[in-house]
Amino acid sequence: MCGIIGYCGPRPASEVLLSGLKRLEYRGYDSSGISIGTGGSLKVFKKEGKISALRNIVPADADGAWGIGHTRWATHGGVNDTNAHPHTDCSGKIAICHNGIIENYLGLKDRLTGEGHEFRTETDSEVIAHLVESFYSGDLEAAVKSTVSLLKGTYGILVMHTDHPDQIIGARNGSPMVLGLGDGEMFIASDVSAMIAHTRQVIYFEDGEVVRLDSKGYEVTDMRNRPVDKKVDNISWELEEMEKGAYPHYMLKEIHEQTESVHRAMSGRFDDDQATAVLGGLNMSERELLGVRRVVIIAAGTSYYAGQVVSYLLESLARIPSSTELASELRYRNPIVEEGTLYFAISQSGETLDTLMAIRELQRKGARVLGICNVVGSTIARESDGGVYIHSGPEIAVASTKAFTSQLTALYLFILKMARMRNMAWPEGQDFIDGLRSIPDLIGRILDGEERIRELAQKYHRVENFLFLGRGLNYPVALEGALKLKEVAYIHAEGYSAAEIKHGPIALINEHTPSLFIVPDDHLREKVLSNMKEIKARKGPVIALCSEGDTDAADIADDVLYVPRCPEEFSPFLMVVPLQLFAYHCALLLGRDVDQPRNLAKSVTVE
Ligand code: AGP
Repeated sequence: MCGIIGYCGPRPASEVLLSGLKRLEYRGYDSSGISIGTGGSLKVFKKEGKISALRNIVPADADGAWGIGHTRWATHGGVNDTNAHPHTDCSGKIAICHNGIIENYLGLKDRLTGEGHEFRTETDSEVIAHLVESFYSGDLEAAVKSTVSLLKGTYGILVMHTDHPDQIIGARNGSPMVLGLGDGEMFIASDVSAMIAHTRQVIYFEDGEVVRLDSKGYEVTDMRNRPVDKKVDNISWELEEMEKGAYPHYMLKEIHEQTESVHRAMSGRFDDDQATAVLGGLNMSERELLGVRRVVIIAAGTSYYAGQVVSYLLESLARIPSSTELASELRYRNPIVEEGTLYFAISQSGETLDTLMAIRELQRKGARVLGICNVVGSTIARESDGGVYIHSGPEIAVASTKAFTSQLTALYLFILKMARMRNMAWPEGQDFIDGLRSIPDLIGRILDGEERIRELAQKYHRVENFLFLGRGLNYPVALEGALKLKEVAYIHAEGYSAAEIKHGPIALINEHTPSLFIVPDDHLREKVLSNMKEIKARKGPVIALCSEGDTDAADIADDVLYVPRCPEEFSPFLMVVPLQLFAYHCALLLGRDVDQPRNLAKSVTVE
């Protein structure tokens, strides 16, 4: 959940490392550090806080041509300068950066302390520096391999030694690592965002691989020193896409990008003649797709809520039994994998460890797992048995927004394909395609009404508790709305089925706890209107998020937000956007760090 970076080449390493860490900051931002190799010694700079704080303490002349860096999301040990990475060994000649968790670090630490090593930090990662020191006898790569052979847990590790100028050793197990090929220089980092300004040629590492790199080249071997041939990939994203442009925050930019990102997620994926979808990456024949008897979706966070919407619709439109499971729970539940069950793993980053480990557990049991990912070349995308890229473009803000609607788009295409293979006739298929194609414009109309949402945030951003309520397809959207308000505004919010609250949570209702009801013009509308009246009867403030012209909802509610009318199956696309903007404006009014909320990180690479 941290970001690591390394550089060998002619440029001043500190600038390459600092600007690369800035691009990796969304991976963890509580403290950071770099170590530079120069003149036979290491210069190490570490600082609590954002990369800007680190940049302030790195003197301009403290430079060399090779170094490593780290931005942290603390797992072991408090947030302070000392526990920030890089960590060094007793001699001060070896420096390491680590992304992941070393589960057996205490035992290793005891053994090393017994051998006379002095530990300076509370972290699990520091054992790596001392282990390399204990194994080192002139061959740094060999020492790193001996070290990682003792480690239990996950890691992306970078190691440098003053006796090996212009050399970095990298090793991966569970945490992402990618090499960037330059002309007379090499970059290595947790993801491509750290090197996209310098190269578009990259190599993705698999678990168990070790790389030795210097400014002239690299060699990849496995733990038994056998050379590993690696494919060179090209980064598809443009650097500009990673900039905020005219927007004050990435979150607002990414909310507004949904008119394009939804379009991109469906572009080139319709077969209008057959009124169905074309998803080339599934790696499944029509016959295999026809043999699917159940669909199980696994994911975490926002991706999980997108999965819940899709499961609802897979059952109602394609008549395929479907459920969505928390990846972290499914993995340890000894899941029963049956013939005919198709699994989807949804992950924007493609690196969420809970989801990755659940995929491996399912594949070990013989399951076919397809990935729905945004980050090209990510681990989940590479390890899945096929899948669909959602083409959202880089999502930098920690709070996921455009990925949600793009994940829906990609899987709505799958629903269309499966339904047209079963019970959906051509005209319905065409209507579904028309409905999907209308979404970008409808979202555009909602974005035009942002001012009304900002006014609502102005009215409600000081509350301590907030309820989001929906039914059917929009119950998961209520959960997503609550997650957004929690993670960016730090307001305690709960998402509930509007029917379920009378079984207990309605006890929370009072004049200080507003309830936002998602009331699309669908077959559950009357039920939701009754639920709204139940809250009004108990003096709870009610906000209705409803379809244009819904005067009944407006009559009941204290405040109304309208979205354009659409066929009911598409309402989640429209209902989620005002909830994203509401959370954004509440966070802004409360002075929160909107793009990098406290305690969070964009890609959760620890369990
Ligand atoms: C959402 O805003 C959060 N950043 C988080 O819940 C996220 O959705 C979750 O960690 C899953 O991430 P993934 O889609 O990259 O796997």
